[in-house]
Parts: sequence; structure tokens; C-alpha cells
Amino acid sequence: MPKISAFIFDLDGVITDTAEYHYRAWKRLADEEGLPFSREDNEALRGVSRRESLLRLLKGKVLPEPQMEAYMARKNEYYRAFLAQITPADLLEGVAEFLAEARAHGLKIGLGSASKNARDVLSALGITDQFDAIGDGYSVSRTKPAPDLFVWVAGRLNVPPAECVVFEDAEAGIAAARECGMYTVGIGEPTRVGAANLVLPSLAGVSVSQILSKLTDSPH
Ligand code: BG6
Ligand code: MG
Repeated sequence: MPKISAFIFDLDGVITDTAEYHYRAWKRLADEEGLPFSREDNEALRGVSRRESLLRLLKGKVLPEPQMEAYMARKNEYYRAFLAQITPADLLEGVAEFLAEARAHGLKIGLGSASKNARDVLSALGITDQFDAIGDGYSVSRTKPAPDLFVWVAGRLNVPPAECVVFEDAEAGIAAARECGMYTVGIGEPTRVGAANLVLPSLAGVSVSQILSKLTDSPH
């Protein structure tokens, strides 16, 4: 039977709903600058880095580098104002139980987030100490859908990629995990995460043993 030794979690949209805050911060910048940007456009920004998000928001419009930097800094300022409101009550339903159960199973636990704010979000949620390794927007230079971040986290956990399961809400994240041979659990809409080995609406009521048996039974 294939072995699973570690779970690696994306942060935004899997552990907590900061995806909405990212959207509102970009939307504020876009509105202030007269750039058309809808919730539908925002779908393409899910899970990708700050710079890649801005490039997608600009839809091909080219800006000088200092202006790019200024836009990214402003969006981050708006985003960080939302972070001040985050408390442990903002953990998505089922996450606390799922993390505790994974640990009780002896699995290693990693974070694989593209966000440079990931450590602050974990700390506001009160769950930093639940992770054996934390990969964030500073860990690697090639961001999702490149596999680098998940490979980096697996290395820190000292677990081969083939023994890791990645939990992701973004297409780019599922692609990144598949690229390095990890198992994938997509959280949310099948239109977004349908390429995962297993798709769940959320982690609410989900048991670790259920996930392990479903993944190891299916072709990988
Ligand atoms: C990802 C989010 O986790 O982090 C993206 O899904 C976000 O929406 C990216 O753009 C980068 O985040 P930050 O905090 O470094 O701007
Ligand atoms: Mg995400």
C-alpha cells in the first residue's frame, strides 16, 4: 500500500477565507485607478503571487516597474488592514479538528502558501505551532503553478514528495502539486480544482483516515 507521511496545506481559501480579503484589496486599488476588475476576473488571481496577480489584473497593460511596485505596496497595505481583524474564530469549519487528527495519526504537517503575509495570518489564527515546516512567499522564487514551493516544504519536512498530500483551493496549486508527484485534495469548486485526486467542498466533517484510504485506493 502506498505510504503517506505528510499533509501540506495551502493557506488562503483552505485554512481561512483570506481569499475574500485579497479580492477586496485588489478591487479597491483597481477602482481607485480606474482599472476594470470584477469578481469573475478575480478567479484568475486565486493562488498566484502578488506580482502575477497584478499582471493578470492589468490584462496586458504594461506599466513602468516603479508603478508596479507602488501598486503592489498599496494593495498589500489594504490587505494588511483586513488582517488586523483576523482571530482564531476565522479558521474555516473543520480545520482545527482536521489538523489535530492529522497530528494524532503521526503525519507531518506543512504549510505551502504563496503569500508573504502567511506567517502573520497563521499567528493571528493562533496555529503557527501546528506546523512542522512553513513555506511562504519568501521561500522560493518560482511561484505556483511551479512545483518549487511544495518541493521546498517536503524537503523541510524530510519527506519524499510522493508521500505528501497537498490541500489546495486553486488551480495553480493543484497543478504545482501534481507536477512534483504529490497526492492532491482540491477544496471547493470542481471547475477550479477538478484535476485533484479527490475534491471536497471543505474540510468540515472530513476525517483523516477517510482521506488516506480514498487516496491510497485510487490510481495516483
Ligand atoms: C496566495 C493567495 O496565497 O498568496 C493569492 O491565494 C495572493 O491571492 C498570494 O495573491 C500572495 O499573497 P501576498 O500576501 O504575498 O500578497
Ligand atoms: Mg489558496
